[in-house]
Amino acid sequence: MNIYDFKLIIFDLDGVIVDTAKYHYLAWKELADTLGFDFTHEHNERLKGVSRTRSLEILLEVGGLTDAFSQEEKEKMAVAKNKRYVEYISTLTSDDILPGASKFLQKLRAVGIKTAIGSASKNAPEILERLGITDLFDIIIDGNSTQKAKPNPEVFELSAQRLDIASEQCAVFEDAQAGIDAALAAGMTAIAVGSPEVLYGASMYVRGVGCVAN
Ligand code: BG6
Ligand code: MG
Repeated sequence: MNIYDFKLIIFDLDGVIVDTAKYHYLAWKELADTLGFDFTHEHNERLKGVSRTRSLEILLEVGGLTDAFSQEEKEKMAVAKNKRYVEYISTLTSDDILPGASKFLQKLRAVGIKTAIGSASKNAPEILERLGITDLFDIIIDGNSTQKAKPNPEVFELSAQRLDIASEQCAVFEDAQAGIDAALAAGMTAIAVGSPEVLYGASMYVRGVGCVAN
């Protein structure tokens, strides 16, 4: 596979362009602490690529509290978690862009390949602004512009449709199984950022997006 043969490269944001998983973890862990149970890094793996609402459901399941709260209480918890998360990401700068990502994006654009963000996060626009790379994407599709969470393909299909590019001409960089499944369901080529021992079904495995720049 030659990455430069594609017409559109879609990037997941969290874990692909920037390591925000650590901040999601800290904010969720604080919520778990207030609810009185331990939330480990291993538990946090289950939240990767998953929407905020679904993340809360998984967290409550971990604590054995699945049916313990009303919808209103759960909404308050999600708001409180997000408030903490937004405080954490307010410290992000361009230094937090994962190695080689900016250079790779610039190179793709220089050779006429379109670039997109396909993220579940409603905080994607703010994160991209803080990193100073909003302008490196032709289109940004995130948790604000989608109805269905990954593994539903909507987030990736929207980019391709709006840029009028066939799905076979799109590749997706993803660090989460839900995202790889979404890319495959969209009929796109999935490139996993991570190991084949934990991520299944991708056409290629890389340690980071910067590894494919040459
Ligand atoms: C994904 C993350 O990118 O966005 C998930 O991998 C997160 O962990 C999801 O839950 C939603 O993010 P946010 O910022 O809208 O809460
Ligand atoms: Mg991710």
